Amino acid sequence: MSAQIIDGKAVAAKVRDQVAVKVAEMKEKHNYTPGLATVLVGEDPASATYVRSKQRMCERLGIRSVGHTLPADASQEDVESLVSQLNADPEVNGILVQLPLPKHLDEEAVLNSISLEKDVDGFHPVNIGRLAMKGREPLFIPCTPHGCMVLLEDAGVETSGAEAVIVGRSNIVGLPMAMLLQKANATVTICHSRTKDLVEHLKRADIVVAAIGIPEMIKGDMLKPGTAVIDVGINRVDDPEAKRGYRLVGDVDYDSAAEVAGAITPVPGGVGPMTIAMLMQNTLRAAEIAISKQ
Ligand code: GUN
Repeated sequence: MSAQIIDGKAVAAKVRDQVAVKVAEMKEKHNYTPGLATVLVGEDPASATYVRSKQRMCERLGIRSVGHTLPADASQEDVESLVSQLNADPEVNGILVQLPLPKHLDEEAVLNSISLEKDVDGFHPVNIGRLAMKGREPLFIPCTPHGCMVLLEDAGVETSGAEAVIVGRSNIVGLPMAMLLQKANATVTICHSRTKDLVEHLKRADIVVAAIGIPEMIKGDMLKPGTAVIDVGINRVDDPEAKRGYRLVGDVDYDSAAEVAGAITPVPGGVGPMTIAMLMQNTLRAAEIAISKQ
């Protein structure tokens, strides 16, 4: 069997096009431009690259973006006072504090300080709480797991009644992904480093979401034939033949998994482009909320 390739680049482009059209309409009808503020603390190169991509995408779609960078030794007060300044700024609709923060900072307190209506990452405890609870809806859904759900839907994967196995329990992906799949009526299992028999769980999964950060850990022979595989991993592995000296691989061994799966996301070009697309959608939504309150 050869799996259907889930083209994240194409789906993300569709989402972005819709956002760009709505941003242009908003300017026309309301003379209003959505704005995103990014906050980067320290100089982690991967985080700096992600933040730059988010800012560039804002520019492409007509969203105003303002980048704030604080030194790696910034105090808790420095970060929280920047967030409160951004909370009060009417030109800022969304606030994105890039994670992870340096270890000395209290991440929970920082996320808590972001105004609920500007929480475009969806990490505020109230948004996460609403995501977890039946019959409640968050204002914003975390971007990466939301992107995974859009990919599943676009690929025609049925979630209702499906056995979904998520490998990884991070606050950014694994946990909110579990909540979203549960809201979509899947039967959800979260596996992690202490799970006793990962393969036993994977073998009965109709949907597998891999978000563990271990390069090519999940192999084709661990999967149930026909399963849908969403690979959230983006890992650099040394490759002397590649121009940059490395290549990007997922948490799933693509070649062997594509032989067994019914559908699979590639790396790169799968989940990656969706994260930014969903952030743009959330920023537009934050601007719509602001306009509705004017
Ligand atoms: N670090 C890795 N992914 C994310 C994300 O989606 N949002 C933020 N703020 N930080 C991240």
